[in-house]
Amino acid sequence: MTSSFFPPQRTLMGPGPSDVSPRVLGALSRPTIGHLDPLFVQLMDEIKGLLQYAFQTSNELTIPVSAPGSAGMEACFVNLVSPGDTVIVCQNGVFGGRMKENVERCGATAIMVEDDWGQPVSVDKVEATFAAHPEASTLAFVHAETSTGARSDVAALCALAKANNALSIVDTVTSLGGIELKVDEWGADAVYSGTQKCLSCIPGISPVTFSPAAVERIQNREHKVQSWFLDMQLVMGYWGPNAKRAYHHTAPVNDLYALHESLVMLQEEGLENAHARHLRNHKALVAGLEAMGLSMAVAEEHRLPQLNAVNIPDGVNDAEVRSALLQDFNLEIGAGLGALAGKTWRIGLMGHASSERNVLACLTALEAVLGRQGAATTTGAALPAAKAQLKG
Ligand SMILES: Cc1ncc(COP(=O)(O)O)c(C=O)c1O
Repeated sequence: MTSSFFPPQRTLMGPGPSDVSPRVLGALSRPTIGHLDPLFVQLMDEIKGLLQYAFQTSNELTIPVSAPGSAGMEACFVNLVSPGDTVIVCQNGVFGGRMKENVERCGATAIMVEDDWGQPVSVDKVEATFAAHPEASTLAFVHAETSTGARSDVAALCALAKANNALSIVDTVTSLGGIELKVDEWGADAVYSGTQKCLSCIPGISPVTFSPAAVERIQNREHKVQSWFLDMQLVMGYWGPNAKRAYHHTAPVNDLYALHESLVMLQEEGLENAHARHLRNHKALVAGLEAMGLSMAVAEEHRLPQLNAVNIPDGVNDAEVRSALLQDFNLEIGAGLGALAGKTWRIGLMGHASSERNVLACLTALEAVLGRQGAATTTGAALPAAKAQLKG
C-alpha cells in the first residue's frame, strides 16, 4: 500500500521554489471555506490591497492568477497581444525565449533584442529597435533574469515603450519583494510575478497587475482572447473592481490564505527593509564565496541580490557538488541553465531563505564539498569574511 509522503526538511537556496515561511505553511492548513463565502471575498479584497503595496501600484486590476508564474506571463501576453501585432521581446536569458513563444502563439510577430546571458537588457538596443519598428505596439522584458542573475532597468525600458506609444509587459517573477519595483512610478503596464521566490510563499500563484492603459487595450480588443481561463475580461467578473463575484473558477482557497499571510509578513517587515535584508545577505554570501576563491558570473552593478550566479571552478564536477550538497547537507542550489549550463551555480537568497543562517550554512557546506572534490579553493576564510560583512 502506498503510504503518506513526508518530505525532508531541505534548505532551498536554488532559483526557486525558495523556503516557505512556517507562518505561511501554518496559514495553508487553516480550514477551507467556500470561495464565494463573504469572509473569503473579504480576504480577496485584502489580497488585492496587499498586492498593490507589494507592486507599488494603485492599479485596480491587481490580482493573483490561480496558477504559477508561467500563467501570469501567458495572461499578460494573451490579453495585450492580438494577431498581426508586432512585439519587441528582449532576451538575455531563458525567460525572454518563453516570451517569444507566447508572442508567436498569439499570432503576432516577435522582434528580438538579444543580449549576452549575464548582461542586462540594453536600453540602447531597444531604442534602436523601436526606431526600426515604429509599428511595435508592445515591449516585453524580464526585470530579474533568474537564469543568469542579472537585473535590467525597468524604469528606462518602460519610458522607452511610452515614448513609442507602446505598452510594456514586465516579468517580475524573481524581483517582487526582493528588489525595488515601482510599477506606477516606472510606468509598467502589464506586470506578472510568482509566489515561490521572494514572497516566502508556496509555488502555484501568479500575482499580476494591469495599468489603466492596459485595461483599455483589453476592453477594446477586436479578437477574443485565445485562452478562456486567462481572459481578463472574464476573470474581472470574479476578481475585478466592482465585480459581482460571479463564479469563474474555484479559487485555490488555502493557497490564497498562504499568499495573504506572506503579503502580511512583507507589509510587517516593510518593502524597504525586505530589500535591505536581501542586499545584506547577498553581500555576505559574495564576501564568503570570494574569500573561498570563487568568482561571481555577473558584474557587480547588474547583480541580483536574490539570485547569485557563481562560476564553477575548473576541474570541479557540477552535478556531484550539487548532489553532495543535497544528500549530505539537505541544501539545494541551482544548476546553470541554457548557455550557462555546467558553467555556473545559482544560489538563491530569496524571501524567507534570505537569512544570515542560510548564508553561513551554504558557505560551510560548499567549502566542505569543494574540499572533498580537491578544488583549488581556500579553506577557513569564507565564514570570517561573511561574518565581517554582516557586522560591517
Ligand atoms: C523570470 C521567470 N519568469 C517566469 C517563470 C515561470 O514561473 P513558474 O515556474 O512559476 O511558472 C520563472 C520561474 O522560475 C522565472 O524565474
